[in-house]
Amino acid sequence: MLNQHAVWRHALLILLVGMAALLLLRLHQANGAEQPSDSITTGHRLAEAWCMECHLVGPLATGAKKVPPDFAAVANRPSTTVLWLKVFLKTSHPTMPNIIIGPGQADDLANYIMSLKRD
Ligand code: HEC
Repeated sequence: MLNQHAVWRHALLILLVGMAALLLLRLHQANGAEQPSDSITTGHRLAEAWCMECHLVGPLATGAKKVPPDFAAVANRPSTTVLWLKVFLKTSHPTMPNIIIGPGQADDLANYIMSLKRD
């Protein structure tokens, strides 16, 4: 009888831990809402199609002072923000032949580049 009690307590504890873990996971996902993963995926695809011939696209960075800079290096500069990226892509980026970035696409590219930031 005592043993059975202990088993039930154990099961209850596991259940509680599991629920707490689920809750944490949901909170985590809610925090990530400012970086919607669909947008990041789209941005990644666009970057591979449009930017790769000049930039290193992806989590690796070959060198801090490279021109054009690796996206991971850009993302990890403390001054880089999604807003800055969007404005930069619209206004100050050197001419990209054959590429016209729409507003939604600038969002996606900026979200993707910022997703490379190590925190
Ligand atoms: C034709 C080559 C070329 C292509 C294609 C290209 N870039 Fe660039 N990009 C450059 C060069 C060159 C620079 C450096 C400009 C400078 O430092 O003044 C640059 C700079 C940047 C910067 C700023 C980095 C910094 O140091 O502040 C960002 C962000 C950027 N590019 C994003 C993109 C994105 C996103 C795409 C794809 C949509 C793209 N680039 C496609 C050549 C290119």
